[in-house]
Amino acid sequence: MTKLTSLMARGVEFLGCETAILCGAMSWVSERNLVSAISNAGGFGVIACGAMTPDLLDAEIIATKALTDKPFGVNLITMHPLLFDLIEVCARHDVGHVVLAGGLPPKGSIEAIKQSGAKLICFAPALALAKKLARSGVDALVVEGMEAGGHIGPVATSVLAQEILPEMAEQLPVFVAGGIGRGEAIAAYLEMGASGVQLGTRFVCANESIAHPNFKKAFLRASARDAVASVQIDPRLPVIPVRALKNAGTENFTAKQREVANLLDSGAVDMTEAQLQIEHYWAGALRRAVIDGDVDGGSLMAGQSVGMVTKEEPVTEIIATLMKEAAAALERRAA
Ligand SMILES: Cc1cc2nc3c(=O)[nH]c(=O)nc-3n(C[C@H](O)[C@H](O)[C@H](O)COP(=O)(O)O)c2cc1C
Repeated sequence: MTKLTSLMARGVEFLGCETAILCGAMSWVSERNLVSAISNAGGFGVIACGAMTPDLLDAEIIATKALTDKPFGVNLITMHPLLFDLIEVCARHDVGHVVLAGGLPPKGSIEAIKQSGAKLICFAPALALAKKLARSGVDALVVEGMEAGGHIGPVATSVLAQEILPEMAEQLPVFVAGGIGRGEAIAAYLEMGASGVQLGTRFVCANESIAHPNFKKAFLRASARDAVASVQIDPRLPVIPVRALKNAGTENFTAKQREVANLLDSGAVDMTEAQLQIEHYWAGALRRAVIDGDVDGGSLMAGQSVGMVTKEEPVTEIIATLMKEAAAALERRAA
């Protein structure tokens, strides 16, 4: 057994695949084609349920199963109004792994998922929450830092990994996510005790990804500094932190916040209306970018690792490259 396989063994056993590399669920991107390609290549694909209805999720799981007989997971967002119906859909299809994202699991959801026989993976944004989740019976954790694409917390992956891995990695499998673009980083987190890793950005430009050519082109052109976190300019108007590529949409968002803050000052709108206007600004924006190719007005969610995405290539190539880099890094250290 090589050093890499032995360091990944626990993650591989937990996921039931060949390499402990998860492709994190990405709304609109992580559908049947990318998910099955990841799992067929020996990684672990995860369907992004996002705002899907139970019927749509049902169809997506069936379609994914038609494309792979390998294990894959389903990512559910905790605030989805039909969360328990979605859990039921996963149970009906014997989905082996459910990932709960977007906040702490609501009452009864952990039990419902575990009753179905699925393993439950949750995001741990801090050590205290990691401990709480472990006590609640969660089977594995994802530790995701602010380098990641999409919704982010305030702390860097390297810091979360140092805080959480030494305390939690013996108890349950922990997967590290956020800012991973090469295998050397995978090797480092495995050596720190991670059971595996989760990448998103690195897989967006896979041949098998259905993301619009414009969306992929934006990734191929971008460097790390283009993937910026959303900025809140007025303390009264909360902004959800999201990392995405700078574009006209992010520029206009700043202008929009200023405009709404002025309306608030002048009394033209009340606080509820003002906050709704801010909240609604990005509604449907990820879909517009990923599916329709509107890279100016849409949301180009991307992590800082985007600069390491340099070409469109098959998922098998991406995973092989990451594994080769990780193995080489471990060998160099042993020598
Ligand atoms: C375009 C995009 C969409 C995403 N959508 C989701 C989502 O719907 N649910 C979720 O839990 N994470 C989502 N993420 C986060 C990824 O699952 C993954 O954890 C993250 O991309 C890892 O960091 P990296 O981008 O630095 O590799 C998204 C990320 C991207 C880039």
